Amino acid sequence: MNNMIKIATIGGGSSYTPELVEGFIKRYHELPLRELWLVDVEEGKEKLEIVGNLAKRMFQKAGLPVEVHLTLDRRKALAGADFVTTQFRVGLLEARAKDERIPLKYGVLGQETNGPGGLFKALRTIPVILDIVKDMKELCPEAWLVNFTNPAGMVTEAVLRYSDHRKVVGLCNVPIGMEMGIAKFLNVEHSRVRIDFAGLNHMVYGLDVYVDGVSVKEQVIEFLTNPENSSFVKNVQGQGWEPEFIRALGVLPCPYHNYYYKTREMVEKETKNAETVGTRAEVVKKLEDDLFELYKDPNLSIKPPQLEKRGGAYYSDAAVRLISSIYNDKCDIQPVNTMNNGSIASLPDDSAVEVSCMITKEGPKPLVMGDLPVPVRGLVQQIKSFERVACEAAVTGDYNLAVLALTINPLVASDTIAKKIVDEMIEAHKDYLPRFFKKK
Ligand code: G6P
Repeated sequence: MNNMIKIATIGGGSSYTPELVEGFIKRYHELPLRELWLVDVEEGKEKLEIVGNLAKRMFQKAGLPVEVHLTLDRRKALAGADFVTTQFRVGLLEARAKDERIPLKYGVLGQETNGPGGLFKALRTIPVILDIVKDMKELCPEAWLVNFTNPAGMVTEAVLRYSDHRKVVGLCNVPIGMEMGIAKFLNVEHSRVRIDFAGLNHMVYGLDVYVDGVSVKEQVIEFLTNPENSSFVKNVQGQGWEPEFIRALGVLPCPYHNYYYKTREMVEKETKNAETVGTRAEVVKKLEDDLFELYKDPNLSIKPPQLEKRGGAYYSDAAVRLISSIYNDKCDIQPVNTMNNGSIASLPDDSAVEVSCMITKEGPKPLVMGDLPVPVRGLVQQIKSFERVACEAAVTGDYNLAVLALTINPLVASDTIAKKIVDEMIEAHKDYLPRFFKKK
């Protein structure tokens, strides 16, 4: 890798782009970025221009010689890139709103990355990411793919299983959000907190948590019994864990575990939201419209604080610290999605897991975590089975596999309901599921 880094960001018109740009500015001293290529599709052209111009102003204000290129030509952006970051949303927020609303009609959770929503987001996204990887093989075979597109775990799984591109890392802000929340609670610097993460994306546990190497797990578990503290991200409204449950669990759940250990309450909550304020996608749509109005202001040249109302806080930190650690061979510890390779004994070696890793120039080296504790092992294994079947359904366009994936998902209680949801959602997302509508 040279010292004139080129990064291509697919889905560059995203409202999150200023977050990423802020991360590049903060770490410019260690990551000499020269070219940032923001790529989007025709439908996202206007947003790309608005947010791209803000990105240019941000670098300019910071006095950094970074060239920002805006393009609809993905291949041009990929040519010779050192890193490719992906943050696109197939079908835009309208598709997410359908993922959230349709399952609720059947009494099932409607959520961006879990249950039916997660399945359909995977079905829409995986063929596209595999296409991107194909282009990368030709145009930038040595580049690292750093994927934030959800469902990040399944997307990583699909790239590892259905392509021969090995330089892929999946990234989520939940682990860093947990670290930051705990650091705040303990009133210590983030750098002093370390969590041993093991599990899957949005299904990750903190097996232990340390400050300066000393375990503070018991104290943190008590903190999590307070309803105010059971969620570390803005988009999941947790309601507090039962003290008896969380003490006996003995590990730290992530915010998304609310959907599994409080399924009934969360379905009720999402149903109520859908009937009143709107689903999360509908709320986010309004937030985005406001954000883009702000981004248009030619006098704005920083990331506006309003972006913090989104669930993706700290993405930039997580993303840019990862890219920098690969580039600088830092060998520091970060939680990412990567090939298990024996790190978590309870999961297949060749599957994607979310785990604490040492980040080197050859990529993440997962730390050895051993078996998952018995109380959480079964759920994680079941979700991995769901993910693998879902990935296969996405690649093959096999309807039966889609029904199977949803039926084995713990959030769906019946094969008949699973089939009904699949039928309605396949129809609703028809334009984005070409593999399911192949001409015979
Ligand atoms: C969380 C998740 C992300 C997700 C985001 C959604 O933090 O970890 O994977 O994309 O929230 O936030 P939003 O504001 O779009 O609901």
